[in-house]
Amino acid sequence: MRIALASDHAGFKLKEALKGFLVSKDYKVLDEGTYSEESVDYPDFAKKVAQDIKSKKADFGILVCGTGIGMSIAANRIRGIRAALCLFPEMAKLARTHNDANVLVLPGRLISSELAQWIVEVFLSEKFEGGRHERRIKKLEEMD
Ligand code: RB5
Repeated sequence: MRIALASDHAGFKLKEALKGFLVSKDYKVLDEGTYSEESVDYPDFAKKVAQDIKSKKADFGILVCGTGIGMSIAANRIRGIRAALCLFPEMAKLARTHNDANVLVLPGRLISSELAQWIVEVFLSEKFEGGRHERRIKKLEEMD
């Protein structure tokens, strides 16, 4: 499974920790930056990961900023992207099983890297349930 990963400066440390974690679990990681704690603008990085998913260079995306809010707003502006800001593993499970989320968003300034890793593991192991949720996803697509 190929994962596109990006952050802004506020998410940089967590992004680096997650990169090591994902590589250790044998995921293929496409690191789209940022590459330091120098101030950058989160929409630029949300766009890169969204494009990787749309072009099928990656199966899923992970975005990290300070709160996760800016990255969520930015990624969800792009057609076909369903980005979910998850603070707990249960949210990650439901984001995949019910919302068919293709991007996980995490708040680098609000959670530990241990909790973030747990959330990532759950997000990447759960599957979309389809059924009634399929109809709702179609309605989302019609809103694009
Ligand atoms: C950067 O300071 C911060 O505003 C950003 O990482 C994010 O939290 C925005 O939503």
